[in-house]
Amino acid sequence: ARAQIGIYGLGTMGSALALNMAEHGFDVAVTNRERDWIADFVKEAGPLADKLHPEDQLEDFVARLKTPRVILFMIPSGAPMDAMIGTITPLLEAGDTIIDGGNADFHATRRRAAKMAEHDLHFVGMGVSGGEKGARHGPSMMVGGTDHSWQQLKPILRAIAARFEGDPCVDHLGPDGAGHFVKTVHNGIEYADMQMIAEVYGILRNGASRSPAQISDMFARWDKGRLKSYLIEITAKVLAHTDPDTGHPMVDVIKDAAGQKGTGRWTVVEAVRLGQSANMIEAAVGARSWSSEKTARMAAERILGGARGTLDLDDDTLADAFLAARILGYAQGFRILAAASQEYDWSLDFARIAEVWRAGCIIRSALLDDISDAFRGSDLAEGQLILAPKMAQVLETCIPALRQVVAAAIAGGHAVPALGAALAFFDTMRQGYGTANIIQAQRDFFGYHGFERLGQEGKHHGPWWT
Ligand code: 6PG
Repeated sequence: ARAQIGIYGLGTMGSALALNMAEHGFDVAVTNRERDWIADFVKEAGPLADKLHPEDQLEDFVARLKTPRVILFMIPSGAPMDAMIGTITPLLEAGDTIIDGGNADFHATRRRAAKMAEHDLHFVGMGVSGGEKGARHGPSMMVGGTDHSWQQLKPILRAIAARFEGDPCVDHLGPDGAGHFVKTVHNGIEYADMQMIAEVYGILRNGASRSPAQISDMFARWDKGRLKSYLIEITAKVLAHTDPDTGHPMVDVIKDAAGQKGTGRWTVVEAVRLGQSANMIEAAVGARSWSSEKTARMAAERILGGARGTLDLDDDTLADAFLAARILGYAQGFRILAAASQEYDWSLDFARIAEVWRAGCIIRSALLDDISDAFRGSDLAEGQLILAPKMAQVLETCIPALRQVVAAAIAGGHAVPALGAALAFFDTMRQGYGTANIIQAQRDFFGYHGFERLGQEGKHHGPWWT
C-alpha cells in the first residue's frame, strides 16, 4: 500500500508520532538516518507494525508515499534540516509538502518555506507540544504553512491530536513561520510558568519550612481548582517522590542548575526585536542562566550571606497571587504574538491559539478556556489580554495577593524574579501617565533628541537649551 505520510527521524518524538498515526489507521512510511533502528522500531510496534512501512533508502521511502506527498521530519533543527532539504528536494514533485516538526527558529522556517516555494514545494513549520506521551497519545500541534499543505495534513493531524471536549488541539495558524513562532511563544510562557512555580516552592520551602510532601499536597489541591494545569499537576507529583537510593525527597538530590535549549531565549529576543518586553519570560530565561552559575552562587553565599526571613503567607493568598501572575504570563505571550502577527502579516487568531493550547501541550491549563472566551468576546486586536473584562475582573481580585506575596518575599530576601516581573509589568501598564517624561527630558538634555509635548504634535526642546 502507498503510505499517506512518511516520517523521517525515529527518535523519541518521531517514533511516538508514527505509532499515534498508525493507531489511528494511517499507513506511515518510516525511515531514519541510522538505518539499523528502523527494523527494531517496527518490530517493537507489535500489532501496529502492519501500518508502518519501513524503508532504508530515501528514494524508496519517497516512492512509498501517495502523491502529492507529505513527509514529516523529526530531526534536530538547524543545519541537519537544511542538509535534508538539499538531499530530498530533487526526489520530490510539485505539490509535495515537507514538515519540520521540531522546535525551529521561525526565521529559518520562513527562509526554508520561501526556498522550497521556488520549486513548487511546500514547507510546513509545525510546533508539536506535549513531550513523548503527548506525541504518542495526543499532542497539541501548531501548523504554519500553505492552505494546500493544511488540506493534506488536516485529516491526519486532527485524528492524532489531543482533544479538549472533542475539539482537536491542532490548527492551521498562519503561513510559513507562524506555527513555529506560536510554539516558540508557547515555550516562553512555559518558562515563565515553570519559574513562578519554582518561586512559590522556594517561598514555602525556605520561608515557611514546609516539606516537599506538604508543598506537593498544596499543588495537588491547586490542581483541582482554578489553577488546574499540567505544570502544577506534575510539580505536585515530582514533590511527592523520594529518592530510592537515599530516601531523601527526590527534589533534594537534584542539582539546582536548569538547562535550556533556546526557545525561551528566542521568545525574549523576538519580543525585544518587535519593540516589546516580555519581562516575565526574560526573568525566567535569566533565572535559568543564573541557576547554572552554581560556583559563583556558592561563593556569593559565603561572602554576602544567604540568610532569608520567615514568611507567613497562607495557601489561598499564594493561589490568588499565582493566578494573577499566570494571567500576566499568558498576556505577555499573546502580546508578542500580536506584534509578530502584525509585523509578518499573519492574521493570527488568538482565541483559536488559546484553544489549541487547551489540551495536549505543556502549558495546558483551565485558564486557557477562559482566555479563548475572553478573546472571542472582545476586540483585542493587540492581544491585550489584561483588558478583556473577564481577565480584568480576576486581576482586580487577585493582584492584592500578588502584591502581598512579592512584597513579603522581597522583604525577606527571597528571589522572586518572575513574580516580581509580573507585578512590574502590571503596575506599568495600568498607568495612563507614566514616568517616561523624565527619560525624554534627559534625552533632550544630553543629546538634543527632542520630545513631544502632551497634546501637541512635533518635536520640542526644553528650556535647558535656551
Ligand atoms: C513541549 C516542550 C518541548 C521543549 C522543552 C523546552 O512543548 O513539549 O516545550 O517542546 O523541547 O520542554 O525546552 P528546554 O526547557 O529544554 O529549553
